[in-house]
Formats: sequence, structure tokens, C-alpha cells
Amino acid sequence: MGPTKGDTVTDQQVENQAGFESTDWETEFDHFSPVYAADPYPIWRDLRERRVIARSSRFRGMWVPTSHRDIVAVANDPATFSSRSPIIAAYGALADFRLEVPPISSDPPYHTEVRRLLLPFFGPKRINAYQPQVEELAHALIDQFIGDGRCDAATQFARFIPVRIIASMLGVPLEDESLFLGWVHQLLEVAPTNFEQAALGLMDFFSYFLTQVQARRTEPRDDLISFLLEARLGDRPLNDQEILGMCLLLLLAGIDTTWSAIGATIWHLAQHPEQRQYLRENPDCWPIAREEFLRAYAPVTMAREVNVDTEVLGCPMKAGEPLLLPFPAANRDPEVFPDPDTVDLNRSENRHLAFGVGIHRCLGSNLARMELETAVRVFLDRIPEFELEDPDAVRWSVGQVRGPRVLTLVFPT
Ligand code: HEM
Repeated sequence: MGPTKGDTVTDQQVENQAGFESTDWETEFDHFSPVYAADPYPIWRDLRERRVIARSSRFRGMWVPTSHRDIVAVANDPATFSSRSPIIAAYGALADFRLEVPPISSDPPYHTEVRRLLLPFFGPKRINAYQPQVEELAHALIDQFIGDGRCDAATQFARFIPVRIIASMLGVPLEDESLFLGWVHQLLEVAPTNFEQAALGLMDFFSYFLTQVQARRTEPRDDLISFLLEARLGDRPLNDQEILGMCLLLLLAGIDTTWSAIGATIWHLAQHPEQRQYLRENPDCWPIAREEFLRAYAPVTMAREVNVDTEVLGCPMKAGEPLLLPFPAANRDPEVFPDPDTVDLNRSENRHLAFGVGIHRCLGSNLARMELETAVRVFLDRIPEFELEDPDAVRWSVGQVRGPRVLTLVFPT
């Protein structure tokens, strides 16, 4: 099957193009701009072609490389680029507020120890055991709207898959899923530009999870929180701050990311009937197709903090300055991926960076891949024909995790 062009040009994208022209992305890069959220591709392309590293005064002089080469170089150099503040806030560095979410916010040697401790929980065998639960959940969600001929695939389908699975792994009540989804939005989309919301969200989160931790101290269960309570770093147990930080990381990393990947894949397929048919008729091609969806619509942008004065592409970077690491931009670099804006379901040479690269490479990649493939496969089996109700009404999240948050589809009943 031949490749198909990724995006259709909509009125919204034309408007965005106008916004794109009026913003100086080289000096005022803003990943919270709705223009960027709706269509970041021309922005990355332009910066990459001009071989410039962008900056932003809104985010404390943040640097933004966009080429595959520069992004890999930064990610592979943790001594020069620290992970201590993996989310960039407009008002200050996370590390200054002592907010730690290990292992993603830590550097070696501590990072190595914490990562080693979590690894067994995310191995393929353990993760594959959740596959039937994901499949059953996908069917149950679809049962609720299949008769309506219409659904919001972001809010009625995609978001519930990862939230329910990570809630069962952590062992927290599924009935509280709206709380978890609320924190994800508050902490990832609002908090980086609003200190008060950051403080309120974190307080709510920590008081909820502290109760969960205390309950397991008196009565251990078979879940991830109890596992963390039993775990040892060298010869000591984890302290409460470490346990709560890991719960926060797993909740945020486990929900928004996969929700975004499932939503973006469905958004793409809504516009490509020939690829839907190809996937249904050739289920064996899923592993390659899945990687192509992850490459083209990689949802996660990370961040680093310059640790020692350095220079990238002639830019003098000073210790303490934040740096945005848009892995999704690297995935669209034509030097590594020929015809990068085309979604080619047979792209076999595909060493994409959706899960990052280097020592922090995603621990949840087995889980994310399984959830993405299972959810979209079931969706296609049950609803073979569907399209966007109104392409201009699709809304994408802002900030460091990008995916559709309003995705209304129509389909025959
Ligand atoms: C499509 C879904 C996902 C994407 C695209 C994604 C992407 C990423 C990326 C790019 C990193 C690297 C961070 C860095 O370099 O600073 C990362 C790290 C991480 N991810 Fe994911 N992720 C996904 C799903 C998940 C899930 C489901 C979980 C677990 C529940 C998870 C847990 C983690 C953890 C714990 C780390 C930190 C690893 C370390 O610091 O050593 N991720 N992820």
C-alpha cells in the first residue's frame, strides 16, 4: 500500500498559518499557544531549515532545538543537560520548588537506582497480562455510544483506556478517575503558566495519595503503591516524598501520553479510509503501523536544564537555563525520515524518538504500545467507517503533551 499524505488543510490550519506568520517563533517560541497546539509542523520545519535554535522570554529564556541531531545530542548528554526540571514552568524551575518525580526528574547515579527499581513492573510479560482488560474496556466504552452514530473519541473513548489501567496498577479506586483526569489537565496544561493552580493541584494530589499510602502501610495489597512501600534503594526504604513523587509521575506519564497517542491516531484514520481498510485487511501490519503513528504523532515533549555552560549550534547556553526537548519535532526531520509528513504504514526503517532516547527512555513503552494498538484495533473492528464531524472543531491540548481533547466523529449506525 502506498503512502498517504498526513493532514488535510482546513480553514483552521489556514488561520493558524496566519498566526504562525505573525509570531516570531525564533525569539518567542510558545508551546502553550493554540496556534502551536493545532499545527506545530510548519513551525518546526521553518526553524530546522534555518538551522536555528529558538528561544522564549515567556519561559525564562528557554532554548528549543528542533533537529533530530541536536535533540539526540542533548538527550544523550545528561552531564551537561540535567533532568531536574522536566516540565518548564513560566515562573520558576521545578527543582527550586523541591518537586521531585523520580526517575524522570533525576540524574545519575540516583536516576539509575530508581529506574532499576521500577523496571520489573513494566516488563513485557507483566504488561501483556493487562491486554485482555484493555480489550474488554475498549468494547465496553464503544458499547455506550455505538448506537448514537456520533461520539467524542477523545473524551468518551481514548482517555478512559490509560486512566483505568494505571489506576488498576496503582491500586486506586476506578471511581476516582475523574479526579485523576482533572489533575492531569490542571498539572500539565494549566500549572506551567499558573502558579496558584500548580500549588492547588499538587496539594490535592498529595493529600489524596498520602491517604492511599497510609492505608497500605497498615494493610499491604497487591499493587504498585504497596510494591513501592516494600522496595529498597540500596539499604534503605523509599521515603514518602519519593513514593508520592513516583505516584505523581506514573499518573501523569501513564494517562495523558497514551490518551494523546490513541486520539491522534483515530484523528488521522478518520481522514484516511484507505488506511482503515488496509489495517482491517492486514492485521499483521499493526506492529509497523503502530510505530508510524507514534513517529508521526508523538505526543511527548520533555525538558532539560543546562547544567554547565555550553554551546549548541553556536548558541551560548548558561547553567540554569531551561531547554525544551521536542521529540515530536525530531520525528519529522527529513534528514532521518524521508518524506516525514507522510504517514506511511509500511515505513520499516523507523527509529523514532516518541519514547525519547538515552538513559530516560520511556519505562512505559510496552504498556503504551499495547494500549494504543489494542484500543485502535478494537475501534476499527467495531466502527469501520467514521469521519470527523467538523475538522475545525477538533481541539488539541497545549503544553508538553499534545493530543486531541475534542474529537467528534460521526459514523453509520
Ligand atoms: C504513547 C505514550 C507514551 C509516550 C509517547 C511516552 C514518552 C516518554 C518520553 C519521551 C520519555 C523520556 C523522558 C526524557 O527523556 O526526559 C518518557 C519517560 C518515561 N515514561 Fe513515558 N511515554 C508514554 C507512556 C508512558 C506510560 C503509559 C508510562 C507508565 C505508566 C510511562 C512512564 C514513563 C516513565 C516512568 C518515564 C521516566 C523514565 C526515566 O526517567 O528513566 N510512559 N516517556
